[in-house]
Amino acid sequence: MSNRRRLAILGASGHGKVVADIAIQAGWQDLVFYDDAWPEKTRHEHWEVQGSLPMLLNDLADFEGVVVAIGHNAIREAKLDALLAHGASIVSLVHPRATVSPMARLGPGCVVMAGAIINAFAELGMGSIVNTAASVDHDCRLGACVHVAPGANVAGDVEIGRTSWVGAGAVVRQGVAIGEAVMVGAGAAVVSDIAGNLVVAGVPARPLASSEGDDDDNDPPPKASNVLRFDLISPQGRT
Ligand SMILES: CC(C)(COP(=O)(O)OP(=O)(O)OC[C@H]1O[C@@H](n2cnc3c(N)ncnc32)[C@H](O)[C@@H]1OP(=O)(O)O)[C@@H](O)C(=O)NCCC(=O)NCCS
Repeated sequence: MSNRRRLAILGASGHGKVVADIAIQAGWQDLVFYDDAWPEKTRHEHWEVQGSLPMLLNDLADFEGVVVAIGHNAIREAKLDALLAHGASIVSLVHPRATVSPMARLGPGCVVMAGAIINAFAELGMGSIVNTAASVDHDCRLGACVHVAPGANVAGDVEIGRTSWVGAGAVVRQGVAIGEAVMVGAGAAVVSDIAGNLVVAGVPARPLASSEGDDDDNDPPPKASNVLRFDLISPQGRT
């Protein structure tokens, strides 16, 4: 039996390419993609796309780890929920040149990209993404499947609800609370609390007119709880 470490990546996307790159640099040797576009899509760059989610659920015993590389936060959360319900071994991936405090806590399925910094006592819910050169400072609490986009800086003691985005290059002031399913526009400065389900942009960040009071069908479904699921990571065990 092979000793090679096998990782399944759900989501043969652009984000999936970056996730695959981090996985290789973090020591995973065999990568296999799954995507619901299979069987139309059978290759992703030089990797095989082996099936769709139902097939991955059948193949779970073949892999030491599974990660979901889908950029859409609510979809990523739904896929992770399905995989966890089937007992998948969901792993987090941390780029070797990211800085993650040993006192930070990452839930399963997080991805931390090159140059990112996660400081002491920050807590990231399952499936969160801290993208290239972004930072999440001390005591922040991020719900499930939050995405802090490239170059964004989240100051200390900030709370961000599940499936929210902080856009590229945005800044969030310390102590602010951002609700669930919020989209913070690229380059925004969030200086006060933001209610859920809003799109905000600008300096200081204000809701875009189109997002106020909308009941868009694309909103993620309500959840009974926003309980964070954590695995304490250590410097030796970041994957
Ligand atoms: C904020 C955002 C979600 C709005 O997207 P949208 O709903 O499609 O909005 P539109 O592009 O139709 O723009 C609507 C208005 O908001 C303005 N606007 C859009 N994004 C803005 C931003 N980031 N900052 C300031 N104003 C912005 C537009 O200029 C436009 O103004 P107008 O009505 O006066 O012409 C999007 O522009 C954005 O910034 N997304 C983040 C992208 C990102 O960080 N990606 C990272 C990928 S890893």
